[in-house]
Amino acid sequence: MERRNQIYEGKAKILYETDDPALAIQHFKDDASAFNAKKLGNIVDKGVFNNSISSKLFEEVAANGVPTHFVKKLSDREMLVKKLDMLKVEVVVRNIVAGSLARRLGIDEGKHLPHPIIDLHYKDDSLDDPLINDDTADAFGYATYDELKHMRESALKVNEILTKFFGARNIDLVDFKLEFGRCADEGGKLLLGDEITPDGCRFWEKGTGRKMDKDRFRRDLGNVEETYAEVDRLVTS
Ligand code: ADP
Ligand code: TMP
Repeated sequence: MERRNQIYEGKAKILYETDDPALAIQHFKDDASAFNAKKLGNIVDKGVFNNSISSKLFEEVAANGVPTHFVKKLSDREMLVKKLDMLKVEVVVRNIVAGSLARRLGIDEGKHLPHPIIDLHYKDDSLDDPLINDDTADAFGYATYDELKHMRESALKVNEILTKFFGARNIDLVDFKLEFGRCADEGGKLLLGDEITPDGCRFWEKGTGRKMDKDRFRRDLGNVEETYAEVDRLVTS
């Protein structure tokens, strides 16, 4: 598979065309950002760990019936994916109160929710990815009601699969963000895209509550690289 022109460079990844118009290469960088790029940094080898972690987790969800863009891992930092027309809606699933939910409702982090909560955000850094609902997404054409229903169902299925997967590794899946896109090559079918990594998930060690995700960078908790390496070891072992 030949790498061609760059399509897009984002905060954590670069997307390249390939010699097949239906496929793209995702290159994972070490750049780290938080609070919509208000805090910037670099986590040594994050790109290598995230490519490895995301490849394994996409294989896991696909094996359990959720269609994804993942084709194969090409190298340490590169993954071959189906090219998607990404929806500007971020789907956040929450099992335990943390982060913006705790701040928004003025409650402590750590409460286990009686059922998962799905939050939708409009993907726009300049607006700080504002919270939206289904009516807003449909009215402004970010996603149709049918697509939103599909994304909600897929997100809950991914939640079940990954909660079990991480549970077996002594980790609570606290929350995570998913992105979906339309695959022109498959008649506009919605596929799970982007990445599933500690950048966009919260992982807490069961029992101790130790944070094993990008909150170590966001909150200056130390041992950032070591923790990404540890998650990679746990996920791929
Ligand atoms: P951001 O755009 O938020 O800075 P990244 O640095 O992770 O994020 O950039 C990757 C970009 O590629 C994201 O905007 C994401 O929506 C997009 N993307 C992810 N998977 C695909 C895909 N399969 N096809 C096309 N675009 C994708
Ligand atoms: P939050 O607590 O900031 O709303 O984030 C919830 C989870 O979703 C957390 O694991 C981080 C992830 N997330 C992103 O990765 N990018 C985003 O733009 C948003 C809104 C959330």
